[in-house]
Amino acid sequence: MSKFFYIHSIYKTLNKGVFIIGNKFNYKAFRKNIIGIKEKVPTLNGRNVRYINFDNAASTPGLNSVYEQLKDFLAWYSGVHRGTGIKSLIASKAYDDAHEIIGNFVKADLDKNTVIIVKNTTEAINKLSYRLDLKPTDVVITTLMEHHSNDLPWRDKANVVYVGLDNLGRLNLEDLEKKLKSYYPRVKLLAICGASNVTGHINDIHKIAKIAHQYKAEILVDGAQLVPHKPVDIKPNSHPEHIDYIAFSSHKMYVPYGIGVLIGKKETFLKGSPEFSGGGTVSFVTENNVTWANLPDKEEAGSPNVFGTIALAETIKYLQKMNMKEIEQYENELCKYAIKELSKIKNVTVYGSFPRVGVITFNIKGLPHSLVGAVLCYEGGMGVRTGCFCAQPYVRNLLNVDMSKYEGKENTPSALLPGMVRISLAAYNSKSEIDYLLKLVKQIANNRTQYNRDYVFSKKLGSYIPRFRTKGFDINKFYNLM
Ligand code: ALA
Repeated sequence: MSKFFYIHSIYKTLNKGVFIIGNKFNYKAFRKNIIGIKEKVPTLNGRNVRYINFDNAASTPGLNSVYEQLKDFLAWYSGVHRGTGIKSLIASKAYDDAHEIIGNFVKADLDKNTVIIVKNTTEAINKLSYRLDLKPTDVVITTLMEHHSNDLPWRDKANVVYVGLDNLGRLNLEDLEKKLKSYYPRVKLLAICGASNVTGHINDIHKIAKIAHQYKAEILVDGAQLVPHKPVDIKPNSHPEHIDYIAFSSHKMYVPYGIGVLIGKKETFLKGSPEFSGGGTVSFVTENNVTWANLPDKEEAGSPNVFGTIALAETIKYLQKMNMKEIEQYENELCKYAIKELSKIKNVTVYGSFPRVGVITFNIKGLPHSLVGAVLCYEGGMGVRTGCFCAQPYVRNLLNVDMSKYEGKENTPSALLPGMVRISLAAYNSKSEIDYLLKLVKQIANNRTQYNRDYVFSKKLGSYIPRFRTKGFDINKFYNLM
């Protein structure tokens, strides 16, 4: 069968249903393409309202057009890199091509870098932590603004040193350079987020990469909160500002099908053994020896998530057609507006500073973050996240929490510990959704005693729930509490 046949079959299948809109961000088309955008949820006053998702930093909903493409692709689905049948050949070709599309999205030089598919950013960073061959005397510099996933994997592999922050939660670049200098030449890696999942703050990854390289350290960018919201270019490997490794997740970029990505220098992964081995990772095995397969197969043990990988590649094509630069601009306008208006509300404190992606954290004076989250849920039909967002050191730093007060109380439900309320935006959110949020936040900030009276902390759920039944929705029945 000719190469043309495979390519033709795949693209016939995959490109069906994608609407081309001329490389411009078409907000209306984008919003319409969001699965579940019209779903209604019950609220305490008995009305069903359209659900507003302000929790995109956790996970974004999927796209209808890609879902339709996936349904078509399922007819061609088969095991990859294993079978001899046409379906297997087509699925393998589509899977391999998807790696290329994903790598090109961040402008990786694919002669020098490999694109490894894992399950999420956490797994990608863990994989790198095993594959860097770190010695106990090596130093990994990370920062106090990281998600736990870019902190904990390093702790048992090397000496971890944290770069400090300023009072707005931004990285202190002087401290970074000081630490690179004082631990030189033991610093093997600088592990840093592209954008924070707490404040949305965007780090100048290229400036930071250049500094790290001056001290012969490599750089990993946790791109989970950056790649879905801004064009990213990791630059050629020989460039002083090159990003050596980047990790990101599909579920934060409209692909809730279980894919994470690690892109990095082939050299690193050609050395040594993968942390997981078995099917698919080898080319030749005897009872005593193993010859590893080529990259990325060596690093993708077991049957891969073909479906999710193809979904990510197709979503990337869609985002590119929508224009990532314009998506960034749209989200930025929305974020600026939300922050300006939130900051005007009495008793509301907003954290973080620009440049930032649309991740906005705040607190209302005197109210637990989790109670505010509950009111937004049960009265506003909104989804936000509250607490420390898997970045406890960063949140406590921003809040100036004296942690000695919590010694021996580590098992306190997180809803009762210091934290924040987080709204996180994506390109389908609208100004009117923000206005609706602002209205409710204003009400909460002005009438807090009323809210304290109407909600009760459920030990079983670890969150606040309404004390009363609503007309349309019995919370106790819903959670099987009674
Ligand atoms: N890391 C994701 C978040 O910030 C899950 O919510």
